[in-house]
Amino acid sequence: MYSLSAELDEAYNVITNRYNVAPDIALTLGSGLGFLADEIHQAHVIPYAEIPNFPQSTVEGHAGRLVFGDLEGKSLVIAQGRQHHYEGYSLDEVTFATRLFHRMGVDSLLVTNAAGCANPKFTPGEFMTITNHFPMVQTMLPPPYDNVASENVWNTSLAVQLRNLAADENVVLREGTYAWVTGPSYETKAEVQYIRNRGGDAIGMSTVPEAVAAASLGLDVLGISCFTNYATGLSDTTLSHEEVSATAESVKHNFAVLVRVALTLF
Ligand code: HPA
Repeated sequence: MYSLSAELDEAYNVITNRYNVAPDIALTLGSGLGFLADEIHQAHVIPYAEIPNFPQSTVEGHAGRLVFGDLEGKSLVIAQGRQHHYEGYSLDEVTFATRLFHRMGVDSLLVTNAAGCANPKFTPGEFMTITNHFPMVQTMLPPPYDNVASENVWNTSLAVQLRNLAADENVVLREGTYAWVTGPSYETKAEVQYIRNRGGDAIGMSTVPEAVAAASLGLDVLGISCFTNYATGLSDTTLSHEEVSATAESVKHNFAVLVRVALTLF
């Protein structure tokens, strides 16, 4: 069960013995979006491999390190790379970093991801603030992390404020529902149709376990999806990791603008 406090303490002690840090906000960077951590000046960096009990990132495009530093005058811990359920990690492991952030005293989580676009009114290259989600997987977080209804996970008042700020910056920010799939393969056309019929706007393989765990621990959670591609069946091209990475690369500037304005909200 979730008797992981000893593991968390061990990880926490190694970090705080190395650096005297007390971040206020955690930022999780999704596939192809990790570059933002490199913009932190005078950052303290700790590879996941040097933190006891911390699960490693095995996916290409996920650097696998914690970066501590300031951005927009806020003290941050950045997860440059995350763990996915499809990598073989349990939900305990997928949410380890989130629970460690809580152990550090962080009270807000800004969580980002690359996602497929299931809503034909939206376009790859745009962003979406997540206001609800549904899991397409049967695996749910057990107690005590099941104490929060899906519509209460996302801080929708922050999401509304972020939309206004994004408009001021001329960045297209949609609002919608994120459907969590296990992956690692992309969906079939029929699955995308099913998700769309149930109101899914974005489809991705991450974020929901971390967001649910964070909200159940009392953190304010704001989520940003970057639409990197049309979900299967919404376009003629065959979906690939290269397309996801190429789109993420092309919208770097707007992503950095969005994260910076989002941080001013906390
Ligand atoms: N489906 C699931 N996850 C994704 C996608 C997608 O189309 N694009 C990026 N992550």
